[in-house]
Amino acid sequence: MLEKIVQPLMMWYDKNKRQLPWREKKNPYEIWVSEIMLQQTRVEAVKPFFLRFTDALPDVHALAVCPEDQLLKLWEGLGYYNRVRNMQKAAIRTEEEFQGTLPADYKALKSLPGIGSYTAGAIASIAYDIPVPAVDGNVLRVLARIRDDDRDILKQSLKNQVEEELLAVMPSTKPGEFNQALMELGATVCAPNGAPHCECCPLSELCLARKRGHEMDLPVKKKAKERRIEKHTILVIIEGSRIAIQRRPAKGLLAGMYEFPNLEGYLSKEEVLQHVEQQQLIPQSIQKLPRSRHVFSHVEWHMDGYLISVTSRESQQGKPDGDLIFADLETAQEQYAIPAAYAAYARYLNLFLGQERYEVKE
Ligand code: ADE
Repeated sequence: MLEKIVQPLMMWYDKNKRQLPWREKKNPYEIWVSEIMLQQTRVEAVKPFFLRFTDALPDVHALAVCPEDQLLKLWEGLGYYNRVRNMQKAAIRTEEEFQGTLPADYKALKSLPGIGSYTAGAIASIAYDIPVPAVDGNVLRVLARIRDDDRDILKQSLKNQVEEELLAVMPSTKPGEFNQALMELGATVCAPNGAPHCECCPLSELCLARKRGHEMDLPVKKKAKERRIEKHTILVIIEGSRIAIQRRPAKGLLAGMYEFPNLEGYLSKEEVLQHVEQQQLIPQSIQKLPRSRHVFSHVEWHMDGYLISVTSRESQQGKPDGDLIFADLETAQEQYAIPAAYAAYARYLNLFLGQERYEVKE
């Protein structure tokens, strides 16, 4: 049914489009700036920021060479400062690789920092008339309602599918107008909060949600489940040049990997020392380490740590404890898989885990 929306939507946009500073000319740089700003706030709020920014930094080169302090100042009030830092990185790459002009190529645009499928689609279609979709929350809402589709619009798989479906029906002559028409309809008519203005919608005759009275129930956005928080105390136990590790249970999170000994909850120095003594180890010194956290998809570990130097009573008793393994550092690094979740503590031993292992150390 999507092919049926094209003509009424284009006619509506032609009559109703808003006059916006970045719509006056098809300047790829200005369209890029506006689209990044529009990811943060409404069109009306963006206008003064856009004018201030493009006045100070009128092109890719000006952005590439702008001192960071000035750049952040120009972004002040918009938030998400990493977005403008990424824009500067992309501007520098554009100077190096594309002679200072944003490439007229969807894939090349997407390869630049901070430019995902939405922004690449918007720049390619609006500035360069390349027929690629630009699917944002507005577009997903409009399509969910027209098709009475109750799938979760926060799912990446749905966005990918919508991109493909729009690609198949979008007009090859005015792809930028088509994308903006859908966004504009979503922003002004098929509005997000509260009731949509179906009485002025060019697609109301086609709209299944309206027909069935579902327009207020759509789109569906399922919140990600909250992650469970687990508190742990991590013990970095050193005995001479060896460290203590233990194997994780064979089932569950990080099954079968190796880890520093650890205890549930946040423990005091005294509690930790008591535990260490119970392991047939004789503590020589103890030092508190900073708190760290590691985020998994369903759990977050919030960790406290202690660095404890020990001697063991193993000479009399064989192994110090059934579960603990004392390994020299090199063996620990090379032979035992220790998850990156422990990286913040492993660093105290000059032991590098996960991605860190491959990064250049200064
Ligand atoms: N929201 C984000 N980008 C937009 C655009 N180009 N036109 C209308 N609304 C938008």
